[in-house]
Amino acid sequence: MRTKPTLQLLATYLSYSMPKTSLSNITISPKVEASNQQKNLMNTMKHPEFPLTDDLIYLNHAAVAPWPKRTSAAVIAFAEQNSRYGSHFYLDWLDKENGLRSQLQTLLNAPSADDIALVKNTSEALSFVAYGLPWQHGDNIVSSNEEFPSNRLPWQSLADQGVEFRQADLHSANTPEDALFALVDDQTRLLTISSIQFASGLRMDLAKIGKFCQRRGILFCIDAIQSLGAVEFDVQAYQADFVMADGHKWLFGPEGLGVFYSTPKARERLKLTQYGWHMMKDTHNYENKAWEIHPGARRFECGSPNMLGIHALSASLSLLLEIGMASIEAQVLEKSAYLMESIDNNDQLVLLSAKQQRLKSGIVVFKHRSLANEVLYKTLQDNGVVCALRGGGIRFSPHFYNTLTEIDRALALTSIK
Ligand SMILES: Cc1ncc(COP(=O)(O)O)c(C=O)c1O
Repeated sequence: MRTKPTLQLLATYLSYSMPKTSLSNITISPKVEASNQQKNLMNTMKHPEFPLTDDLIYLNHAAVAPWPKRTSAAVIAFAEQNSRYGSHFYLDWLDKENGLRSQLQTLLNAPSADDIALVKNTSEALSFVAYGLPWQHGDNIVSSNEEFPSNRLPWQSLADQGVEFRQADLHSANTPEDALFALVDDQTRLLTISSIQFASGLRMDLAKIGKFCQRRGILFCIDAIQSLGAVEFDVQAYQADFVMADGHKWLFGPEGLGVFYSTPKARERLKLTQYGWHMMKDTHNYENKAWEIHPGARRFECGSPNMLGIHALSASLSLLLEIGMASIEAQVLEKSAYLMESIDNNDQLVLLSAKQQRLKSGIVVFKHRSLANEVLYKTLQDNGVVCALRGGGIRFSPHFYNTLTEIDRALALTSIK
């Protein structure tokens, strides 16, 4: 049951129903520029891969995303296969596992699929780095004071080894990158940053940071969870040593399966903190007593893989890769630009996100001039707008398939008449 909203609703909101025409005949391709007519259709109609219930407007991809149709289908098929055949088709599952590494390699533009490890989540991969590097008393790590706890706690926990965690105020210099560089000194061993800040949408210039770190001989670590699946990403252009992300946000995957990228040189510097059969070079030779560590990133995968998650995430990535990340990014930025402009033009709302073009992401944060965030948030939730309370306001995080009509309807719910 919906509770009675405290705000005036758009009269048509609850009775609104989406046009019934299917989008399946519209090809979305990075190579073919959509016509204006196609763009208009894409901006008002439901995407066939996202059959979300009509009374929801899903603007929460920076938290946990819904699954595409094909992902639900892959999970159902995997469940069916398990109940009818057990692990009889395990070799196919191994193909799926390796295929997922290749998909992630493409998404990250990694030099090799061997640079990709499948991990539980972002926090686990960050902890591999924090507890793998050989720290010296007096070393420091540079980051920002806006990081999600996953990219703060592992580093702060090194304090008892005499390692300092420095948190830059990203607004204290001409650019957020300069604010980070100002904290670097001869004792800095690693710079770790979210590619896009979860609570503001601030997007870092990763190529600039990578170049700086390379010149100074500092390791560069990126929490990419708010970028992968939303915007293009390129570990080589960023000269990143370590990159990690979970699959359940912009990548449309399930929780509990993430990616950890490392360069061969950087991963050689990490002492391993977990051990098991799956990290052996000769993975399936269980009788081999004199085992060797896998030369690739698979060394961070100690035991049996999350096969269910692999089937799901692989299906989700197939959608993103089919459409192409250039096209996805353009569509995400179109939605967030429209959102920012609409908020800017609404005299009851205040935009809190950074507006600079180069920093744009899929995250837009705003607040109401006279309503408490909690009240506005509850009203939005009660009326089917899935969003989050973050960064001192309401966070909307639309993905490529959201329509401008949905954004209009969500914003209309914020107005007091
Ligand atoms: C920037 C950032 N890093 C990490 C996480 C989550 O980390 P994990 O994958 O360990 O759950 C979030 C979740 O909101 C996040 O926004």
